[in-house]
Amino acid sequence: MFRYIAHALLREELSLADRAQAVMPGGVNSGQRGIPGLERLIIAGTDGATFTDGDGRTYVDFHAAFGPPILGHNDPDVDRAVTEAIRTVDLMGVGVTELEVGLAERLVEHVPSVETALLTATGSEATFHALRLARAATGRRRVVKFQGCYHGWHDAVAMNVISPAERIGDRDPMSTGMMPETVEATAVVAFNDLEATERELSERDVAAIIVEPIPHNIGAVLPDDGFLPGLRGLCDRYGTLLVMDEVITGFRHALGGYQSICGVVPDLTTLGKAMGNGYPIGALGGRAELMDQFSTTPGHPVFFAGTYNGHPGCVAAATATIDKLANEPVHEHVFALGERARTELADLFRSLGQPARVSGYGSVFVTYFMDGPVREYADLLANDIELFTSLRLAEMEHGVFELPLNLKRSHFSYAHTDDHVDTLLGATEAAWREKKGS
Ligand SMILES: Cc1ncc(COP(=O)(O)O)c(C=O)c1O
Repeated sequence: MFRYIAHALLREELSLADRAQAVMPGGVNSGQRGIPGLERLIIAGTDGATFTDGDGRTYVDFHAAFGPPILGHNDPDVDRAVTEAIRTVDLMGVGVTELEVGLAERLVEHVPSVETALLTATGSEATFHALRLARAATGRRRVVKFQGCYHGWHDAVAMNVISPAERIGDRDPMSTGMMPETVEATAVVAFNDLEATERELSERDVAAIIVEPIPHNIGAVLPDDGFLPGLRGLCDRYGTLLVMDEVITGFRHALGGYQSICGVVPDLTTLGKAMGNGYPIGALGGRAELMDQFSTTPGHPVFFAGTYNGHPGCVAAATATIDKLANEPVHEHVFALGERARTELADLFRSLGQPARVSGYGSVFVTYFMDGPVREYADLLANDIELFTSLRLAEMEHGVFELPLNLKRSHFSYAHTDDHVDTLLGATEAAWREKKGS
């Protein structure tokens, strides 16, 4: 108690970062935000492609909150839709709103695998419910995920993303306190390795394979041509459900997600992030015959709930976002910026004599500081982590923000322009020269 009173008395003199540290463990609201070098970062405002910190410095934001604002921060069309919605209706504890029906209709219209859809508040809830449904529908317990993919914070999947070398090939839970039985029921396989995946499916009954079609949680590792179709074939052969986690790729790479690009139709699809341009919303969709097992139909056995599912403000944000993606050349714009950045970053590092592999897809880009091919997470152990993170911290002095955390990707939004690509290239070169003293 004394601590809190003393804190209250001191409040006037303490900085916001100190006040945060005093009353919030670590001073931030996510384990992914407690990042060395950013301990005192205050987000004071956002606008289009930029954010402003507590000292009034403005940065071109390429991190973009791990990817949601595909239209840019504070998009006026999204803001208007949210404001109108919350002035009209703020009840979602019973029944259904016109907004929810309209959004589900759009998901069914655009995403190939989605025959029917349900809304969640986050991506983690969507993947949780997808796996629960897969277990219920198949009567099996086990799940297969891939090293380097992230699917949220729950026990069945919170493991083996950016693992230390010695944990690859073993289970690498991201937290203590996880249920060992749940962790053990998930097998982890190398991305792009169909043989190892088939071994898992043939040796034990597997309820679901869950996969990021492009593992963007480790930057951008592209699937081999046959990999995603190969997973579909294996699932069909072994009676396993294919869950395509499009929380990052959905709406960012195409209105229909990456599945509309690669032509592989999963049984279930999870969505989030870019779907709501920054408002907390996720979705789960797929084959109607599977989705029908959810308890949203009275008496059906797979429990599905969430106080904030279908929140009118978030649904309005998602509807406005999807309509803008459908009606304006958003993907054309962000893909062109991404292509230019990847090409010119590769040219830049070549001219500097710095070994680098610039990867990405569409609006997403990342520079790994390494030689050699990138087909799976283990290849990325060669990345020069010190250079990767310190270069990004140094870029901040030049008005550019990319997350200074190993392997994290950067994004373009509709609010970014070619001038921002120029700023990125200039800041990257200046930061590299400062670091290398040349
Ligand atoms: C591919 C993927 N799936 C699921 C999630 C979990 O989403 P959320 O953080 O909204 O719970 C994330 C979050 O980064 C993700 O990248």
